[in-house]
Amino acid sequence: MKNTVLTFAKAKEDGTKISMLTAYDYSTAKLMDEAGINSILVGDSLGNVVLGYEDTISVTMEDMIHHTRAVSRGAKNALVIADMPFMSYQTSVYDAVVNAGRLMKEGRANAVKLEGGTEVAPQIKAIVDAGIPVCAHIGLTPQSINRLGGNKVQGKSEAAAKKLLADALAIQEAGAFSVVIEAVPKKLAELITNKLDIPTIGIGAGNGCDGQVLVYQDMLGMFSDFTPKFVKKYASLGEIMTAAFRQYDEEVKNTFFPSEEHTYKIDDEIIEKLY
Ligand code: KIV
Repeated sequence: MKNTVLTFAKAKEDGTKISMLTAYDYSTAKLMDEAGINSILVGDSLGNVVLGYEDTISVTMEDMIHHTRAVSRGAKNALVIADMPFMSYQTSVYDAVVNAGRLMKEGRANAVKLEGGTEVAPQIKAIVDAGIPVCAHIGLTPQSINRLGGNKVQGKSEAAAKKLLADALAIQEAGAFSVVIEAVPKKLAELITNKLDIPTIGIGAGNGCDGQVLVYQDMLGMFSDFTPKFVKKYASLGEIMTAAFRQYDEEVKNTFFPSEEHTYKIDDEIIEKLY
């Protein structure tokens, strides 16, 4: 059955956990869907793990639409959330609504995600008023990496913890259906989770959140440029892929591949006539 914003609300009510993973293409989305993952986030982590940028700043609306469309085709049951890239919503409420609309119309997303708290509450309200579900994102917000001074744990001082709680409440008040909490101490994420009526999705925020999200290349061991402490590797696909690429390289070079089994045939008589 298709996961919707109502599935998220019911999970919060029932105390059942929500699973979310990132994906950026059709085949991966299809595999996640078949595995029963509740929601697929087309994250702007696309910039890091697919496009090879050092941060998410350069990701464009065109990048996000292109990859969201591919994921949406593969996800039958998972709720597809598309990230709004840097400067697609910070500039004005108008830009936010127009760009959220593009991710829905052209990308066929089921919802959008944007980073920030109180300062983006007007954008969240306007997007929700336009009929588009919004997932917010607080704590470590990678689009603000230059202001934050790096990928650091957030909310550790009293003032920072109070600000995060205020942000979470403002987001909820503005109409967001869920919020991602990234790189925040477990006890603070738990407190925020308990104070909110909407589900929290943690990444590096402990197991007290209502759901969890991970970047799929991280959890499958396919991305080694940078691995945060909160990543659990469920497989070492990177090693398996490199070994397979190496074997292919060898077999091509010593003509073991392709063998007869992977080769099309034609009658010898026809070939002889061509000589
Ligand atoms: O872009 C992304 O993948 C994200 C997750 C890390 C939550 O925002």
